[in-house]
Amino acid sequence: MDKKELFYSIARPNIRDMEEYDPGPVLPELVRISSNENNLGVSGKAIEAIKNAVSECNRYGDSRCDRLREKLGRKHGMTADQFVIGNGLDGVFTMLGRAFIEPGDEVVCGELTFSVYAEMAEIMGGKAVKVPMTDNMELDTDGFIDAVTGKTRMVVFCNPNNPTGTGTGINDIRKMLDAIPEKVLFVLDEAYIEFADENTADGLTLLNEYPNLMVCRTFSKVYGLAGLRVGWIAGDAELMKYLYKVREPYVVSVPAAAGAEAALEDIVFLTESIEMAKNEKKRFYDFFSTNDIKFIPSQTNFILLPLGDASVRLRDGLLEEGIIVRLLRFRGKGIIRITIGLPEENTLLMEKFMGVYEAAE
Ligand SMILES: Cc1ncc(COP(=O)(O)O)c(C=O)c1O
Repeated sequence: MDKKELFYSIARPNIRDMEEYDPGPVLPELVRISSNENNLGVSGKAIEAIKNAVSECNRYGDSRCDRLREKLGRKHGMTADQFVIGNGLDGVFTMLGRAFIEPGDEVVCGELTFSVYAEMAEIMGGKAVKVPMTDNMELDTDGFIDAVTGKTRMVVFCNPNNPTGTGTGINDIRKMLDAIPEKVLFVLDEAYIEFADENTADGLTLLNEYPNLMVCRTFSKVYGLAGLRVGWIAGDAELMKYLYKVREPYVVSVPAAAGAEAALEDIVFLTESIEMAKNEKKRFYDFFSTNDIKFIPSQTNFILLPLGDASVRLRDGLLEEGIIVRLLRFRGKGIIRITIGLPEENTLLMEKFMGVYEAAE
């Protein structure tokens, strides 16, 4: 047997044919508006805290990140034991899979949503059930309710949704939670909630009412710490215990915990980041409307352009101009996701966009 066949036969059957995550090109010299990061940089307070923590790296850190959980508890009017900190939200989803998904279990998620949910299900031997988007390319809350069967272990609802940027209001979230059996876990991924307006639900306000609800958020987006890898999940303290059973013992590094704690308190950086996204989104809306470019208004720090066939050439053309945007697919057609960058980066994109788009059409 050649090595390739041998290793294929050794790997767990459900992961053998899975595709690896592809982040796309990330050359530092490019204008990077492809991964929904915060292009404002890192909060000065977080940088200082990370530097100070480096000298403590001979020690294992606090396994459960007590100080960070207490700060999160105070910020959100909850208790520390309602939080679990992970190695980014990606790491939180690894824990969710390990704790709750058995072979054959179904995980309901959107047709066009963050890809990690389906991967989590498949890695654990479960099955992702993808709910078709509405005609407006929104997550279909009624569709989510209909998709739940006796085999469903978990529903993962991304709000606001990546990559569409659309938000779902509290009444629709409630409707799903009321309709879904209590033994089905309902995970709300709110990675972009800080950018959203009041029309998008804040899932934390529902936690006391629904014991099967969990809400997760990250330091990677508005807090500007994507490279540090810190995310969290909140839910009933009894339920969180099962995540503690499966998490890696020292899942968050000492500098990462310190940086996240400091970032949480840097309200100036946070406000500036939110304001920038809000103001720059307006500029983009005006630009796309004026130029007749189809876009979906967004509750996040990115905008989706459902441009179909022109998408690949648009992505390639912008890359030639030194700008990297994200090319994704929806029902076989290309779509482009643009992260809101710094004002000057957005200006550059607007300057280059129509030339490249017209050549791509
Ligand atoms: C909806 C959503 N959830 C989770 C994540 C992962 O975040 P983290 O960097 O905390 O792993 C992302 C990152 O792009 C995301 O878009």
